[in-house]
Amino acid sequence: MSGLRTAAREALGLIGEVHNLPNAGEPDSPLVLAAADDRNLLSIEEEGVVKSACAVLERTFICSDERLRVGLIGTVSTAPGERGRGRASRLLERAELELRSRGCAIALLWAEDPRFYHARGWRPIGAEDDYLLPPTLASRLPRMDVRTATAADAPRLHELANAHPTRVERSVDEMRALLACRGMQTRVALEGERIVGYTCCGRALDLQGVVHEWGGEPHAVLALLGEELRGISDQRPGLLVIAPADASSLREALGGFDVQPLRGILGLGKVLDRRLLAELLQRRVGTSARVECDAAASTVVLHGAIGGGDLSDDSLLTLLFSERGIRDDIETLGLAFGFDASRLPLSPFAFGLDGI
Ligand SMILES: CC(C)(COP(=O)(O)OP(=O)(O)OC[C@H]1O[C@@H](n2cnc3c(N)ncnc32)[C@H](O)[C@@H]1OP(=O)(O)O)[C@@H](O)C(=O)NCCC(=O)NCCS
Repeated sequence: MSGLRTAAREALGLIGEVHNLPNAGEPDSPLVLAAADDRNLLSIEEEGVVKSACAVLERTFICSDERLRVGLIGTVSTAPGERGRGRASRLLERAELELRSRGCAIALLWAEDPRFYHARGWRPIGAEDDYLLPPTLASRLPRMDVRTATAADAPRLHELANAHPTRVERSVDEMRALLACRGMQTRVALEGERIVGYTCCGRALDLQGVVHEWGGEPHAVLALLGEELRGISDQRPGLLVIAPADASSLREALGGFDVQPLRGILGLGKVLDRRLLAELLQRRVGTSARVECDAAASTVVLHGAIGGGDLSDDSLLTLLFSERGIRDDIETLGLAFGFDASRLPLSPFAFGLDGI
């Protein structure tokens, strides 16, 4: 971190203080500081002092054969004595413009208290499945040879991670860096010498007791979940596991033990680039409709077989990434305008390791 600008170092200090991070605010995601410069740390400075700061990161989400550039925003922070003067609002606007200029179609963030973001045009998008495994399940899950992962396992774990059809794209080097996240336990299941599954549990402060990343064959993942369950404290209600909404093999495997998922949201999203979203929507509706974006990229219009109209940013997000994958509004619009909505919505997903 020695090559950082003074403002970036101050930004890290502020983020660390506000979000209670160790190591002078070293971000949860090692990828934030992996850029050759400190382009992923944004701040608002007044008279040379950083008053508000956040981290940004652009990632490629792969989902239903689409590649979607998404801008992540995290650890938005204003010093306690400096709040309520519009700084974080200005910083968010800066972050959105910056991510748009880096080619991102939407922005995505995770917030414990979403009210601040709701008031600024952000809304729930996308879907994930959350499973709560009761401690009593531990004795019923299969057993396999299990060990803690090492850095040398990164290429194989990268291979297993890449087998998820819905994921955030990562290089092997990024996978290696992510596996070194602090506060995380990564275990692998073995058949002979071969790794056939892995789980990542815990990460920083907010994913403790959560298996937020996994991969490999379902029976291996079940064995690893059994291992995690045996290790959790009696005080916890169980082990939380998150999964993409299309992870049918895990859903079936856990369904065999009467564990059903609760459908959650991916996060809070906001439109950054209407033109990119109009192009994406056009690909999804095919020849059943014409989707147009004006030269200033301020409006998107959909012309179906029997009608059409302007799509607000909310409508665009609903059509493309509806909250919890709910289809009601999509089908209503499809019927009203006369277009094929069968390839909507998309449900992009980020494992916990991809968080910022
Ligand atoms: C949320 C936070 C970044 C807002 O920073 P800020 O510079 O005060 O933001 P602004 O002045 O632009 O806007 C203030 C808004 O934050 C809300 N707010 C939340 N906590 C607040 C606090 N402790 N003091 C003042 N405003 C607060 C206000 O209600 C106001 O919302 P409104 O304009 O819709 O009424 C800041 O309170 C903070 O650092 N909180 C702790 C970290 C956090 O929760 N970050 C967000 C999740 S990553």
